Amino acid sequence: MKRSEINAIMRDGLAFLKRMNFLMPPFAHWTPAEWKRKGPECRDIIDQQLGWDITDFGSGDFDRVGLFLFTIRNGGAAGLKGKDGKNYAEKIMIVRENQLTPTHFHFKKMEDIINRGGGNLVVRLWNSTARGQLAKSPVTVAMDGVQVQVKAGGTITLKPGQSVCLPPNLYHRFWGQKGKGKVLVGEVSRVNDDHVDNRFFDKVGRFPKIEEDVPPLRLLSCDYPAYCMPNICSLRSR
Ligand SMILES: [Fe+2]
Repeated sequence: MKRSEINAIMRDGLAFLKRMNFLMPPFAHWTPAEWKRKGPECRDIIDQQLGWDITDFGSGDFDRVGLFLFTIRNGGAAGLKGKDGKNYAEKIMIVRENQLTPTHFHFKKMEDIINRGGGNLVVRLWNSTARGQLAKSPVTVAMDGVQVQVKAGGTITLKPGQSVCLPPNLYHRFWGQKGKGKVLVGEVSRVNDDHVDNRFFDKVGRFPKIEEDVPPLRLLSCDYPAYCMPNICSLRSR
């Protein structure tokens, strides 16, 4: 993706969030110049992979296959292992009409996907086989505390206010329903680690390759190692 395209998606996303009265944490608004003045007190943001995350999944066509995400809170590795660590996460996402997030599941993360307003979110579901294929068995999920069953590859539609709980190893893909407008989507989950916990059914790139045609408006979380001062970045090599 070109940096200019990412900047435009950020501007568009911020306007939509404002329209939806969704307030972002302070670090969402830090410029790259402000980041340069930050110190080790901000290390949680980097270590827990918080912040901006805009991806086209390597498609080259963000409108068709892509996702706007912002990780608001997250635990670290300790949160998964110890009972005392932070073991939960929250994201806010924007999904455009017919904009696909490709089929994937998470090895460890259980996630609630919540329609926070705007259009409708369509989610297609499959159980996975032991070999990571799409199972033919019916799928049962909980939508706001109510068990719902669909056939393999069947869809559920989340209208504003509705949510679904997706357990680990359950394949899902989603998009905004055509004609209903873009969707503000929340995610409340166990600790999130996009570097190791995702299994995509098709070969996709989780993070975009960026062509730096203009300076960044805001840093993406994948920019931190390149942009942040060494005394903040303790990001382990992955
Ligand atoms: Fe997911």
